[in-house]
Amino acid sequence: MIEWKEQRIARTYRPGEGQEAKHSILSETLLRLIREEPLRDRTVLDVGCGNGRLTFALAEEAGRIIGIDWSDQVIEQAAQRARAACFDHITFICCDAERIDYGELGPIDLVVAHLCMSDEMLRRAAAVLAPGGCIAFSTLHKDQWKESGRSSRFAYGEHDAEAALTAAGFDPIYLGVERETLSFAAAADALAYLEASDLVGKWTADSRWEGFRAYLERGGRSLTVRARVTVKGRRR
Ligand SMILES: C[S@@+](CC[C@H](N)C(=O)[O-])C[C@H]1O[C@@H](n2cnc3c(N)ncnc32)[C@H](O)[C@@H]1O
Repeated sequence: MIEWKEQRIARTYRPGEGQEAKHSILSETLLRLIREEPLRDRTVLDVGCGNGRLTFALAEEAGRIIGIDWSDQVIEQAAQRARAACFDHITFICCDAERIDYGELGPIDLVVAHLCMSDEMLRRAAAVLAPGGCIAFSTLHKDQWKESGRSSRFAYGEHDAEAALTAAGFDPIYLGVERETLSFAAAADALAYLEASDLVGKWTADSRWEGFRAYLERGGRSLTVRARVTVKGRRR
């Protein structure tokens, strides 16, 4: 039985901040968990690779890396970057990670993902990995922006993440949640933070804006700006 590790940062808003929220940071915990595995002669699959942030972070260490994403735009950007760096051990493929058979990509030793995971992806990862093969991912926790009254449909809570991992055929070897909460002296500061982080347009479109305004009107003065669930499991 693995215990969930909890890491919490609670801090006070500093006037002017928010810009940094536009770029989510690559999880250091995830990188550490991946680097504990032998990578040199192995093939790593990066699911939902985007423009290759995690893929390129592992480029010097892994024998071969395949990045998959369903956006042809980000796959083209990533492929261009790999060509420019002469990384011929990295391949980017445009496909739906919830529909393809990962076995079609060739033998895979390790599946990784950053800010992209679903029960279906977990099942497909389990199908391609041999017993002992490893999955490691960091994705949104349901508490991300919970004060807006809405969580992402791609987010996991502790219970769902562990249940999905186990049901797919993995034994958990690391389970962790990282949360960072900002507190605001005044509602105007919270609104200034959202303006600076360019979230207003997105939040207006998905009704989070309305939910957060209502929370501020009720006297709420905090925001969970970062909540991640990070998991590592080994194929049974
Ligand atoms: C938040 S981004 C993260 C990108 C990258 N892993 C990173 O950390 O920079 C999520 C990515 O998952 C991709 N994605 C979401 N659902 C997908 C699916 N079913 N198949 C393939 N890619 C998917 C999106 O296109 C997007 O590039």
